Amino acid sequence: MTTTEDPTETPTETPSVVVAVVGAGGKMGMRVSRNLQKSAHTVRYAETSPAGTERMAAEGRTAVSTAEAVDGADVVVLAVPDTVLGVVSQSVVPAMKPGSILLTLDPAAAYAGLLAQRADVAQAVAHPCHPSVFLERTRPEEYADNFGGEAARQNVVAAFEHDDQQKRAVAEDVIRTMYGPVDTVHWVSVKQLAVLEPTLVETVACMIGQLLKDALHETVHTVGVPEEAAKAMLFGHVQIALTNTLRGSNPFSEACLIAMDYGRESIVKDDWKKIFRDDELDSVITRMLKLEKIER
Ligand SMILES: NC(=O)c1ccc[n+]([C@@H]2O[C@H](COP(=O)([O-])OP(=O)(O)OC[C@H]3O[C@@H](n4cnc5c(N)ncnc54)[C@H](O)[C@@H]3O)[C@@H](O)[C@H]2O)c1
Repeated sequence: MTTTEDPTETPTETPSVVVAVVGAGGKMGMRVSRNLQKSAHTVRYAETSPAGTERMAAEGRTAVSTAEAVDGADVVVLAVPDTVLGVVSQSVVPAMKPGSILLTLDPAAAYAGLLAQRADVAQAVAHPCHPSVFLERTRPEEYADNFGGEAARQNVVAAFEHDDQQKRAVAEDVIRTMYGPVDTVHWVSVKQLAVLEPTLVETVACMIGQLLKDALHETVHTVGVPEEAAKAMLFGHVQIALTNTLRGSNPFSEACLIAMDYGRESIVKDDWKKIFRDDELDSVITRMLKLEKIER
């Protein structure tokens, strides 16, 4: 279906399809459009803001109306903010071609049941994993590509709750193109994808990243340790902490384990695992999408 030996190469997809990107001038819209533009697919771009339209024009892409973009498209990518995905889907889905695919880039709206449904339109959600912290990067372009979608290989986790495997293959082709270079597309349920993002990676991993930044700030600005010394110590230890815990590379020393226990007692609440409960997932997604509650 998709072949490439060279990670710098855009994968070749067969067969080519018509893809509409709605919200093509936003952060993700620009990223996915850049890769789709290089592919064999026919791509149409829709964007409503003047700033987004200018960003697209600067890269040689012209915006058409959403109606024109969606008309007859095989895959419609909604790259609009999650808070308007429901409303945008209400106008887009009725205009979609029978047998086409609606592709969103984050599970929250799908999980909350906000997307317009049609029996003859399949829905897929695909979230990029970003290049792994353990990725072996050999070229400068790979080191420079933190987000993924340019030179560093990444994986994707996607959901497609529909039986048609052929249609899922079409979705996978578009997903591999827009997030490429991609190693593996992992297929899960919408709910599992929602547990991965936000719970595992935003609620936990991104929060810990910000906590590290806050701790660095305290070390430098409250305690007065020279900034470069603090950064040198922290950045090396973030690396060893991750490889020791996630890959079992080295055992922590006994004293380090005692300090880690002190950190857990001081920083982490005893009931922190409640974030994996269904009602907590509903609660965080309700907050993220600025809803009153999730209706099911
Ligand atoms: N930003 C990220 O790092 C990231 C990563 C993975 C997934 N996502 C997902 O990608 C999607 C888009 O997020 P983003 O961060 O790119 O948002 P963004 O705010 O940067 O861009 C959204 C774009 O959609 C346009 N838009 C809004 N309403 C529109 C409409 N009715 N018709 C056409 N265009 C419209 C806006 O003008 C804007 O250019 C979301 O589902 C988000 O969760 C974002």
